[in-house]
Amino acid sequence: MSYRPANAIDRLILPLDVPTVEQARQLVTQTKGLVGTYKIGMQLQFAGGLQFAEELAKEGHSIFLDVKLLDIDNTIASAVKNVSKMGMKFMTVHAYPKNMRAAVSALEDVGNKDLCLLGVTVLTSMDEQDLKDAGYARSTEALVEHRAHDAVAAGVGGIVCSPLEAKAMREKVGDKLCIVTPGVRPKGSDAGDQRRIMTPYDAIKAGSDYLVIGRPIYRADDPRAAAEAIVSEIESAL
Ligand code: C5P
Repeated sequence: MSYRPANAIDRLILPLDVPTVEQARQLVTQTKGLVGTYKIGMQLQFAGGLQFAEELAKEGHSIFLDVKLLDIDNTIASAVKNVSKMGMKFMTVHAYPKNMRAAVSALEDVGNKDLCLLGVTVLTSMDEQDLKDAGYARSTEALVEHRAHDAVAAGVGGIVCSPLEAKAMREKVGDKLCIVTPGVRPKGSDAGDQRRIMTPYDAIKAGSDYLVIGRPIYRADDPRAAAEAIVSEIESAL
């Protein structure tokens, strides 16, 4: 199963990081035809987002359930089996070897070949100091590389990393895995809490398959125009 994108629109993932399902629905309507996949993360999951994710999938949208799961093998396997019934295109698990292996083998057990499991390497809001504070002795790049290697070995469909690491990861994982990068900011937009960032153009050139871009779109005065500009920027890099 290949999870490589078909075109520029397919490469854009919009996180619906808004407080309510009504606001999320509005964003989906505003950006119709310009977004490949809508991502539902923690904020919306705690406000009816899981049902909404299934609803959007039934309407034919491609949906990324960003659950970032990490737990004991049995719990991970049971959770993945339930998510596999929801019609999602992507879901995230933390890129710990056992965690990813449990998720992959659960999907194999249920015979689901459509759901792409993504291993989250190192959060793009973390820099060297944050890693040090969390007790890691490695640099971000070394830790991402280590986790990418484990992701290939575990057999997940892709990894989530910063676009700053995309080039090195592409060299490391080849075409075996898709590379999904948050931490993307068009020129002039606010970085917010993201630390390891790049522009959409540079991220695609660095080898990212999919770009997760939220605030520069949903906080724009005109989210549709912002999404349009990003799709054109992606196109210009292909
Ligand atoms: O608004 P912004 O473009 O920063 O949104 C990035 C999205 O990607 C958020 O939903 C965030 O939870 C998610 N994400 C991330 N870094 C990761 C994994 C997911 O920023 N490593």
